[in-house]
Formats: sequence, structure tokens, C-alpha cells
Amino acid sequence: MDVSIRRASQADAQEAALIGSATFLETFAGVIRGADVVAHCASAHAVAVYDSLLTSADAAVWLAESDDGGAPVGYAVLTRPDLPVRDPHPDDLEIKRIYVLSRFHGSGVGPRLMDAALDEAKRRGGRRMLLGVYGQNARALAFYAKLGFTRIGERQFQVGANTYGDYILARRL
Ligand SMILES: CC(C)(COP(=O)(O)OP(=O)(O)OC[C@H]1O[C@@H](n2cnc3c(N)ncnc32)[C@H](O)[C@@H]1OP(=O)(O)O)[C@@H](O)C(=O)NCCC(=O)NCCS
Repeated sequence: MDVSIRRASQADAQEAALIGSATFLETFAGVIRGADVVAHCASAHAVAVYDSLLTSADAAVWLAESDDGGAPVGYAVLTRPDLPVRDPHPDDLEIKRIYVLSRFHGSGVGPRLMDAALDEAKRRGGRRMLLGVYGQNARALAFYAKLGFTRIGERQFQVGANTYGDYILARRL
């Protein structure tokens, strides 16, 4: 199935919230506590959150959509960093979210979303890309390693009522 990637606009907040919740549930159902997944989707993937991201000059959102009907199959979010790194720098940017429905894993959609975010980060004059990833997420860790990201730290990430151990990764732009 062919997939197109486009930069999202404010009119896309509802679509972005849907793919945000759907991919978070699919990724973490059976991996972390269900109540935490439900609470996290209700707060971090509310339409209002995407509305705010899509109106912020500091953020950029991309949607991956099936060419057959236009349904969302993935998305990525680039922001200013919000990570506890030892050496923060004004030229840092963060891939806040990059998620693709599992049916589309291995199809190139994830790498294309990453390319879009890396290109935009360079266009903004970014020198380093940061991200946080759950330390048990083997596929995502392999994906980031393949793209040259290395581990520079750790953080505790709040999901619902609990915290989970994330790695902080970085690569030069
Ligand atoms: C992260 C994501 C966008 C990457 O896209 P993708 O299409 O899966 O990426 P790719 O297939 O190009 O790369 C994944 C790599 O991990 C490898 N891999 C798959 N399962 C693995 C596992 N259990 N352990 C280790 N490596 C694994 C794949 O073989 C592939 O490497 P290869 O290209 O050398 O074969 C996608 O997997 C995804 O959306 N995952 C769920 C959401 C998520 O975890 N997002 C990141 C949150 S920080």
C-alpha cells in the first residue's frame, strides 16, 4: 500500500490525535500498564495537545497517510528539546514522537518520517537531534542505532500514574 507524507496544519489536529492515540496503544498495550496507556492517551494525545503543537512556531508535525483513502498510518513531531541532558545547547532539537502503525513497519514510512524531521531540523539550523525512547523498545532502539543515534543519558518518563525508564539518544545533524 502506497503512503504519502505531508506536513500537518492546524486543520489536522483531530487526525493527528487519532493516529497519536492509536499508535501509542498499539505500541504499548501489553508492554506497560493498561491504565497508564489509557490515561496517557487521554492527556498527551488529546486534540487540544495537537492543536497547540500545530499552532506553535517551534513545533512541526508530519502525517503519513495511505494513498488508498487517506487514513493516517503514522506521524512524527519535531520540537524544541525538553530532555534532561547534561550539555543542553540552543542548536538542539528533539524528535518528540515518531510512530507508525505496525502493518507499515519495515515499509520505509518510519525512515521517511525521520528524513522529513531531520531535513527540517537542519533547515532550522539545528546541530544536534535528541530523543527519548523506552529502554525496552527493541525495534525503535535498532531503528535509531541504524540512523546513527547513540545513547547519551536516561530519564524517567511519566505515563499515567507511573514512570518508565527511557534512554536519551542523540546524533549530529
Ligand atoms: C520506530 C519506527 C517508526 C521505525 O520504523 P520501522 O519501519 O519499524 O523501521 P525500520 O524497519 O526501517 O527499522 C527497524 C529495524 O529494527 C529491526 N528490528 C525489528 N524488530 C527488532 C527487535 N525486536 N529487536 C531488534 N531489532 C529489531 C528491523 O529489522 C530493522 O532493522 P533493519 O532495517 O536493519 O532490518 C516503528 O518501528 C514504529 O512506529 N514503532 C512503534 C512506535 C515506536 O516505538 N516509536 C518510537 C517511540 S520513541
